[in-house]
Amino acid sequence: MVHYLQFFLNTSLLRQRDNAAYSSSTIYFFPFCMSARIYLAPMEGLLDCVLRDILTRVGGVDRCVTEFIRVTHTLLSERSFLRTMPELLNGGRTPAGVPVRAQLLGSDPVSMAENAARLAALGPHGIDLNFGCPAKLVNRHGGGAALLQNPEQLNRIVSAVRRAVPADMPVSAKMRLGFNDDLRAVECAQAIADGGAEELVVHARTKADAYRPPAYWERINDIRLGVGIPVVANGEIWTVDDARRCRQASGCEHLMLGRGMVSDPGLALAIRQSQRQGDANTDPVLPWSDVLPLMGAFWLLVVARLEKRQQAGRLKQWLNFMRRRYPQAQAAYDALRTLHDPELVAQWLQQQGALRQDLLQS
Ligand SMILES: Cc1cc2nc3c(=O)[nH]c(=O)nc-3n(C[C@H](O)[C@H](O)[C@H](O)COP(=O)(O)O)c2cc1C
Repeated sequence: MVHYLQFFLNTSLLRQRDNAAYSSSTIYFFPFCMSARIYLAPMEGLLDCVLRDILTRVGGVDRCVTEFIRVTHTLLSERSFLRTMPELLNGGRTPAGVPVRAQLLGSDPVSMAENAARLAALGPHGIDLNFGCPAKLVNRHGGGAALLQNPEQLNRIVSAVRRAVPADMPVSAKMRLGFNDDLRAVECAQAIADGGAEELVVHARTKADAYRPPAYWERINDIRLGVGIPVVANGEIWTVDDARRCRQASGCEHLMLGRGMVSDPGLALAIRQSQRQGDANTDPVLPWSDVLPLMGAFWLLVVARLEKRQQAGRLKQWLNFMRRRYPQAQAAYDALRTLHDPELVAQWLQQQGALRQDLLQS
């Protein structure tokens, strides 16, 4: 019988096996001595602990950030923090050992500080503050990107959180360029830095830009020059060449990858490889035959954690991103599109060789 939960919690064997598999190939692991860091973006409804686990097994990622945890006027229970960040039970790291930072979203400095203090006691690898969420409900309550219209409030929130958590607990922030326009981008970044954030991720678009390309990487450069803390560039990095152009335009060495990494799980590795070798390979570095077992492992975790009616949808959601980079993902998506029964999905995965016997054994 498959002990799915055990599979999730006790992944050390699998991890050793995966590392052995990947380290045996010169394509995937190589010495990396540059200081440039690559982070996995927070993505609510998509990049949860399951996908963080899978994507960090591939390698190349220095740190993850959880989906936002919404703070209103109540003190959240430990259970609600654990729901979003089960990695807290694993020393704040994914099973592959990559540190995870927890992200809070809210507009009230006092409540944010109280929740941050409780969260800090659970041992995340830092607390990140969301100043970019474009959701109407969140913005109506003054949170997320709406705060970019009020630098003083940004400063109050960051300062309050910084004061509330132990001095050795990093506090960082993630912002967009603005709400309706980017006129106050540098002012907002300075307010965040002055509040005591140790690092700032900038998603190079305003709330009004939503997710429409392009990302205005050159505006990140203005921010970088205007603050004295490390700035991380984010937005529209889908390929190694995008990463190179983003670094050039933003002046940032550190990058955060979101949809690009979900579409191409080897993207962080490929970017590192290109830094070392100077090439800009346009094809994914992970062959589809290596993506299949990742999909199999993903499926087992999904089955262990989610209700039956959500399971097939989660796999299709991931395939929907991957078909941007892999023709095989398009074929898989077409084959699974009308399937809702998890048993049938599992059968299909088995036929593809994605559910390896060693993954199934507990
Ligand atoms: C489905 C989805 C969910 C997201 N959730 C969050 C979130 O919880 N917190 C956050 O700061 N940003 C969130 N973002 C924004 C991403 O972190 C990132 O800034 C954005 O996708 C641009 O980067 P990319 O082009 O590499 O995807 C989300 C984006 C998407 C598409």
